[in-house]
Amino acid sequence: MTASHELSILPPLTPEEAAHSAALAALIRSRIADAGGWIDFETFMDLALYAPGLGYYSAGSVKLGPGGDFVTAPEVSDLFSRCVARQCAELLARTGGEILEFGAGTGRMAAVILDELASLDVFPERYSILEVSADLRARQEERIAQLPRHLRERVRWLDRLPDAPITGLMLANEVLDALPVRRFVLRDGGIRELGVALAEDGSFVERESDASETLRAECESLFTQLPEPLPDGYRSELCLRTGPWVATVAERLGHGALLLFDYGLPRAHYYHPQRTTGTLRCHFRQRVHDDPLANVGVQDITAWVDFTRVAEAALESGLDVAGFATQAAFLLATGIDTLAAARSTDLREQVKVAGEARRLLLPGEMGEAFKVMALVRGLDEPLGGFALQDLRDSL
Ligand SMILES: C[S@@+](CC[C@H](N)C(=O)[O-])C[C@H]1O[C@@H](n2cnc3c(N)ncnc32)[C@H](O)[C@@H]1O
Repeated sequence: MTASHELSILPPLTPEEAAHSAALAALIRSRIADAGGWIDFETFMDLALYAPGLGYYSAGSVKLGPGGDFVTAPEVSDLFSRCVARQCAELLARTGGEILEFGAGTGRMAAVILDELASLDVFPERYSILEVSADLRARQEERIAQLPRHLRERVRWLDRLPDAPITGLMLANEVLDALPVRRFVLRDGGIRELGVALAEDGSFVERESDASETLRAECESLFTQLPEPLPDGYRSELCLRTGPWVATVAERLGHGALLLFDYGLPRAHYYHPQRTTGTLRCHFRQRVHDDPLANVGVQDITAWVDFTRVAEAALESGLDVAGFATQAAFLLATGIDTLAAARSTDLREQVKVAGEARRLLLPGEMGEAFKVMALVRGLDEPLGGFALQDLRDSL
């Protein structure tokens, strides 16, 4: 996810946004009161993003795209999805079967992947979308309806994972970063948990509490794996939901691959002693800031992905890590340069496409912070998308 400005000066809410935010804030306040005056950050983030009818992803704000709060790689350029489609084509030739996409946003990646696959004469049996946001599902349906009949008829929406394991591919672009996280701070050699309480005027305030047993155990195990100790006052986050999400998805992957795209790091880099304030970020109208308690329900909240945690969960579930690379290396290996060159003969279009490619590839843009991980079952041959770079040793 990316935005145009790294600013903490936030534009004011519209009256509709203010009313929406106030309604969600009232719900969260009542949850805090019910819980005795404090909730952990994961509970807060879960309500802020997914409270039925009110959370950021559950309600109707624009969210993705230039008129929304942030832009993802499929929204930056169709080149991204065309490259992903090339990797899909290679895999589908080995496995056959279908594609299942998690959290499909506006549906643009699904539409472009199906179009690119068709141009390669590859037709997955089905393209299923599992989406938790009713609002985004409606936008996906509109987008997919614009595809030719023989492609749109392959698309279906699921309310939950299918019971039987699937053969083929699973895709998730920027889904793991949307899973609610716990936050902690180190004090005098101990672990304290960060959560949310109410100030006297009813506004939300960050408050520390004793860490829950689960968080303490997870942190202690994590710290033993780090090359250097973390300093006092160090704040970060930890996603307890990553492991269960990967395990549940892995259980439903019979023969094939799960491709994950997200911004994140191997554990030793994620919990680097100098990264003293963690990776949690909020997106509001193309501004990035670090106050999750502001604009509740009308801004996105995300945290980077600990890819070592993802790999551990995958291995425990019987999957192999077949590849881990930067987005730039993956896109170059899947032919972004030739795809970009072939897009158009019109000079203005060529300049536009070259700009999009730069945004996807440059280290200071999306090229390095974003990673691609391939988790596979029953596939031994290397994947073309990881031919230029293999970062698995860093995990
Ligand atoms: C940051 S958006 C990314 C959207 C899209 N993949 C893209 O790249 O443009 C996160 C998406 O994940 C969805 N999501 C969040 N948690 C999910 C879950 N547990 N299962 C499936 N989708 C989820 C959200 O509703 C949203 O569509």
